[in-house]
Amino acid sequence: MNNIHSNLTKWSVASRIFHWVSAILLLITWIMILLYDNLDSKVYIGLHKAFGVSLLFWMIARVISRIFTKAPPALAMPKWQMLLAQLSHFALYALLIAMPMAGLLMSVYGGRAVDVFGLFQIPVFVTPDRGLARLFNDWHTDILWPMIIVFTLMHIGAALYHQFIKKDNIMARIK
Ligand code: HEM
Ligand code: HEM
Repeated sequence: MNNIHSNLTKWSVASRIFHWVSAILLLITWIMILLYDNLDSKVYIGLHKAFGVSLLFWMIARVISRIFTKAPPALAMPKWQMLLAQLSHFALYALLIAMPMAGLLMSVYGGRAVDVFGLFQIPVFVTPDRGLARLFNDWHTDILWPMIIVFTLMHIGAALYHQFIKKDNIMARIK
């Protein structure tokens, strides 16, 4: 126990890996839909779905791991900032689960099984329904995606504020 200080002030190794892999999966999933929108190839929508489903599984594991993880002690900050941080972290967890679920549901309600990197398929486990497919499509593109953008930009903005203005080295906790 000679390393008490650094152990207490950092997130666990698992939490740090969960954090950065989620961020990378989100980035890749987004790049795939950009490629799909801009290039005339069906490959990228398949990859978008496969990475999105991977992110869903990853986030479920992350939430389970988070329940059993003790957060490092909070840094000193005004109460409203603490509340805002907790609220937006919670929102990010919820959004990163709701988003791929909406994508998955839009696909299966549209009657399409989802192939995951050719490894396995998620079958059409519901009765296809155009109305519901439409509804989940709207959630996916018009509601959840803008919310992800807002909360992620706020999150990165907060990290930059801590790094360069407050200089309290919060980044070291998650690195
Ligand atoms: C967190 C994971 C995901 C993110 C961030 C994400 C993000 C997006 C974005 C930004 C779009 C483009 C909307 C537009 O064109 O304006 C989109 C479209 C789409 N996504 Fe996802 N997605 C995710 C997961 C999934 C999953 C798991 C599936 C299916 C299994 C899926 C299926 C689709 C489909 C089919 C479209 C095209 C919809 C259309 O052309 O109308 N997505 N997604
Ligand atoms: C450049 C990108 C990013 C940076 C610099 C960054 C930075 C950080 C930092 C410093 C923390 C720790 C805060 C603390 O110890 O109190 C953190 C936590 C967190 N980050 Fe990020 N992050 C980034 C991207 C993302 C993305 C893309 C997401 C998800 C969309 C995300 C979701 C989270 C969540 C949910 C937590 C809270 C963990 C918890 O309290 O359980 N981060 N991030």
